[in-house]
Amino acid sequence: MKQFFVHRKIEIIKVTFFSIILAAAIVGNSIILRIVVNATKVDNVQKYLFLSFDVFIFFLVEALVYYHQQSSIKILSLQLGYDVREQLAVRISKLPPYLLEEKKSEKYLTLLTTQNDLLIDSYFYKIFWGGYLLIQFIFAVLVSFAVNFLLSIFVVLLIVPQLIIPFIGKIKLENNKNLVLQNNENYMKEGQEFLEGEKIWKNFAQEKRFIAKFHDSNYRLLENQIHEKRFSYKIITLNDLFSNLLYFGIWVIGGYFIIIAHLTMGELVAFTQLVVAISFPMYSATSIITDFLGGRKVAQKFKNEIEFSENAEEIKKASQDIAAYLTDITVKFSNKTLFEHFSFKFEKSKRYLIIGESGHGKTTLFKLIFDEIKNEKGSVEIGTNIGYVPQQSYVFQGTLEQNITLFASEIDFEKLSQAIKISELTIKRDVQVGNNTLSGGEKQRLSLARALYADYDYLFIDELTSSLDQNSRQKIEENLLNIKVNFAYISHHYNQKLSSKFDEIIEL
Ligand SMILES: Nc1ncnc2c1ncn2[C@@H]1O[C@H](COP(=O)(O)OP(=O)(O)OP(=O)(O)O)[C@@H](O)[C@H]1O
Ligand SMILES: [Mg+2]
Repeated sequence: MKQFFVHRKIEIIKVTFFSIILAAAIVGNSIILRIVVNATKVDNVQKYLFLSFDVFIFFLVEALVYYHQQSSIKILSLQLGYDVREQLAVRISKLPPYLLEEKKSEKYLTLLTTQNDLLIDSYFYKIFWGGYLLIQFIFAVLVSFAVNFLLSIFVVLLIVPQLIIPFIGKIKLENNKNLVLQNNENYMKEGQEFLEGEKIWKNFAQEKRFIAKFHDSNYRLLENQIHEKRFSYKIITLNDLFSNLLYFGIWVIGGYFIIIAHLTMGELVAFTQLVVAISFPMYSATSIITDFLGGRKVAQKFKNEIEFSENAEEIKKASQDIAAYLTDITVKFSNKTLFEHFSFKFEKSKRYLIIGESGHGKTTLFKLIFDEIKNEKGSVEIGTNIGYVPQQSYVFQGTLEQNITLFASEIDFEKLSQAIKISELTIKRDVQVGNNTLSGGEKQRLSLARALYADYDYLFIDELTSSLDQNSRQKIEENLLNIKVNFAYISHHYNQKLSSKFDEIIEL
């Protein structure tokens, strides 16, 4: 996280400056009170009025400083959260595809949203706010010693219990918070299933069972929230009690000091104001420390992600005339071995038809080539300018044209209409589309158009026609067989006529 603070050092200097000025002003309130109380003894109304005016100006300035300090610590926390999100996006762009596949995008989505909010509020903000309160606390203690040494000793004695609370409560508060967070995660997962599977449980008339499932996680969340709140209010109440003891204790002791003429009334009023400036940071310490400890864990998560060293190492490049070269490959998933000592060379000059039963590893073979899956043994080489038309593609929010060109600012319209034509897309170029608005077949055709527009030298096409009717399938296959570019083609629907158009058939 250090790099983020270094990057915003000017803002941090500004925040520190305003924090020091504001702390001085807040502590200065007590001096003002002493001056005002002492001035009541002087029998000069005009002088008193001037003084009142000065006090008014002082509080105007204090309000201005307050505004700058408070807004700048909040803004700086938001800016740091933004910097972390930017950095994470760059990091994600460098992740090897197989890691994104493994780690799943939901994890990164929570890091970019809810976890980032936590980082801002519980980590960055708590550092600046806690830092400010510490400055205020130190100033107030120093000034109180300057005003009256003996009474300050009593203040120090009376704040000891408050100093201990954060340390005794900290671990339990933190554990409770973690439990709530965990239950919240479970609740969110259950809630997501409840919503996403809604059509299924409704169709199967299982409303009661699924509402009961939802209720369980919902109730567990509430139980933990109640437990957490009960304990945290115990701590808050103790804090409140000790704050009162400190505040009124100082009045009682101060009253005695006035009786024995060791203190003036003005000093006592100033002192009680100082005690407020001392006890407020103490009062807030428990919650700031526990929040910060939680926030630090979140910060650690971000740190691990951002400093994660596994970069997308370049897949080895195959020689000029090769599209992909797999040597002695072994791929195992927990329950089965898909490839063992498998070798194959895809030559750019040839067209391959890949066939095989469902689940036999056709898609896995392509994913290997495009680094979406890591092989246990063996090596994978890929040629230059090779494209992939995956079995399942993604449609971005935007026009069809933007989806095909992937939001390019300059468009080759000739090439675009050619790609649309070959893919048999019937949607107009400027129609708004999205991942949920296109049919399975349209998505597959869009995916092909994208790869064609990108001008690759060779294509790996996975089940392009699985969601298409026979007529459209035949048309697209005919178009494809007439393009200049060669390709490897996975298909479930093959026959003698289709097979004869390929140079080699690979059966998995
Ligand atoms: N990341 C993964 N983790 C565990 N198992 C996986 C993973 N990816 C694929 N598999 C399994 O490997 C097998 C092969 O999957 P693959 O998608 O390559 O099959 P396919 O031949 O393309 O099938 P289809 O014709 O149905 O598309 C399947 O049994 C699948 O469940
Ligand atoms: Mg497949």
